[in-house]
Amino acid sequence: MTREKHVFIGLIAYSKSLKDLSIYPGFLAVEYGKITKKGSVAEFETLNEAGAFSNYKIIKLKDDQFLMPGLVDCHTHAPQFPNIGLGLDRALLEWLSKYTFPLEQRYGDSEFASKVYDTVVQRLLNNGTTTACYFGSLHLEGTLELVKTAIKHHQRALIGKVSMNVKNDAGYYNDTKKEIAEVETFIQEVLKYKSELVQPVVTPRFAISCDKELLTALAKISQKYQCRIQSHLSENRDEVDYVLQMYSDCKTYSDIYDNCHILNERCIMAHAIHLSDEEIQLLGSKGVSIAHCPASNTRLKSGLCPVRKYLDNNLTIGLGTDVAGGDNASIIDAMRRAMDVSTHLELTGNNDYCINWKEAFYLATLGGAKALKLEDKIGNFDAGKDFDALLIDVYVNEGQINEYESTEHAEEHAVSLLQRFIYLGDDRNIVQVYVNGNKVKDILTK
Ligand code: GUN
Ligand code: FE
Repeated sequence: MTREKHVFIGLIAYSKSLKDLSIYPGFLAVEYGKITKKGSVAEFETLNEAGAFSNYKIIKLKDDQFLMPGLVDCHTHAPQFPNIGLGLDRALLEWLSKYTFPLEQRYGDSEFASKVYDTVVQRLLNNGTTTACYFGSLHLEGTLELVKTAIKHHQRALIGKVSMNVKNDAGYYNDTKKEIAEVETFIQEVLKYKSELVQPVVTPRFAISCDKELLTALAKISQKYQCRIQSHLSENRDEVDYVLQMYSDCKTYSDIYDNCHILNERCIMAHAIHLSDEEIQLLGSKGVSIAHCPASNTRLKSGLCPVRKYLDNNLTIGLGTDVAGGDNASIIDAMRRAMDVSTHLELTGNNDYCINWKEAFYLATLGGAKALKLEDKIGNFDAGKDFDALLIDVYVNEGQINEYESTEHAEEHAVSLLQRFIYLGDDRNIVQVYVNGNKVKDILTK
């Protein structure tokens, strides 16, 4: 398909809110990439008999298949993919200087950038990540390669050229004036594509890599273009100590960003693990979103992010893979790791901190959409939204989920399928992927 009129009939699963999961046999009509109608099987039959779908292609799902919204990765580093699985026995600051900065420096070579980014974008689409919020590298041209690649493969993406102006051992930073000019050029170049799917994000790396002058200038640019702004916040205790020494006039890490006018409803902060109650309050009042990256937080021993506490304080949260701090480029894995981290918090004395599988599913879809301020377009199957969707086959050949004779009723069967996919599924179970109605993966018809 590409973007004609289609009706899917079968099991449909999506979140209405954190606590409200919808899963039912029904239909979903899609016209030119937008969801136009949905309802029960009986409603489909009535409409169909009246000829409402006479010029639609009708796609009937099998018993063990279901349709769900595309996965949203709120935080990942495209240039770090060649390092995935390396150096994860180090802590954040050492890992950055030994592994990450030297690799990212190579993206001054746009040909290298183009090659890597082509595999990154295809890998994420294969994993069902229909929307990704990316950090690029320090390089203007190199990061524009990522923009071109996302557009080419029809991935929905927010993409940032990374900003850094504080010296480091790797020599990986920019002159302040040059950096400010390049960020503005980057935004203008991205906007020239007039892409429905790809938007620029202002991307100060973190407060260790950017001084106050640069942070303030970047906040102004994001204000001027009304684009999003993303960074890292309170990931690691040594990092927090270091920034508080650098910015000795600030009481907390969040205060640093607030003083530079970075905190607002267009802002997405990765990690945010070690926050005081005042900081939680501040982030909530400014409408800042958090990208929770459990795999990275465990691998780099950064900490256990208290997601339940943040949700209870009305913070907006999505999931991130944070490759290559994270060791897995799949948001299915991020759902499981988020459940694990929250369970470990509960097991170590924090009552009711556990996130259940329905909540993890929400964070991976609608929660992520809200965190990226894209919930008017994606995140669930409300009529009027863009059709970003995954067709899941739970008992796909050669997958790892075993099928046993089932005596379940239809409703139990539906819930079992979704649970098994969340706990055990992988890219093999994702048999089709759609972004804005474009079919970007199809292993059904191969
Ligand atoms: N803090 C600053 N830069 C980075 C990065 O590349 N990865 C992670 N996980 N944290 C960071
Ligand atoms: Fe990161």
